[in-house]
Amino acid sequence: MGLALLVSIIIGYLLGSVSFSYLIGRKLLKLDIRTMGSGNAGATNTLRIMGKGPAISVLVLDILKGIIAVWIGVWLGDGNAWVPALAGLAAILGHNWPIYFGFRGGKGAATTIGVIATLVLIPALTAGVIAILSIVLTRYVSLGSLLFVILTPLTTWLFMNHYDYPIEYIYLTLAVAMLSLWKHRTNIKRLATGTENKLGSKKGA
Ligand code: G3P
Repeated sequence: MGLALLVSIIIGYLLGSVSFSYLIGRKLLKLDIRTMGSGNAGATNTLRIMGKGPAISVLVLDILKGIIAVWIGVWLGDGNAWVPALAGLAAILGHNWPIYFGFRGGKGAATTIGVIATLVLIPALTAGVIAILSIVLTRYVSLGSLLFVILTPLTTWLFMNHYDYPIEYIYLTLAVAMLSLWKHRTNIKRLATGTENKLGSKKGA
């Protein structure tokens, strides 16, 4: 089991490290997205800098990284819940600190959605509806990202007995929430001072 865990974590990290916003930015603009807008290598900043098409591509591909990492973990883990959980976490860490791009990546929101939705679909959908509603109402994407990660430990716990989720998934959602709060710390400050960028605004950080 140790080897399966190690291999899943390494594959998850290498997969997560593929920074699609960086690659698409390089291809379309010949620029480093990390020097533009909020400086974040993610779908929201891609929308700000490159528009809807590239942003949707980045969102889908970043979500897919999380899904594939967890699937590989499920396949190699052979029933051990730690393997998919930690493979998913590794993909998020790869997205945030990518080995191929100087360890400067994004905040992991889309990859987190992929990981959590693959592990615990109904809790993710429940939190996702609230997160999307908050974005529609306030136009703060970061608020939606934060609500999603804060709510998923709670919704996973609520549905735990019904869907027979292992406790490892609760630990994973808690770890991801702490990681995401840390990565969004500048967004949190801006939200608190009413200076956060709204969806549709071209303004950066
Ligand atoms: O997760 C990314 C989003 O929540 C915030 O992105 O570019 O506005 O910092 P950004």
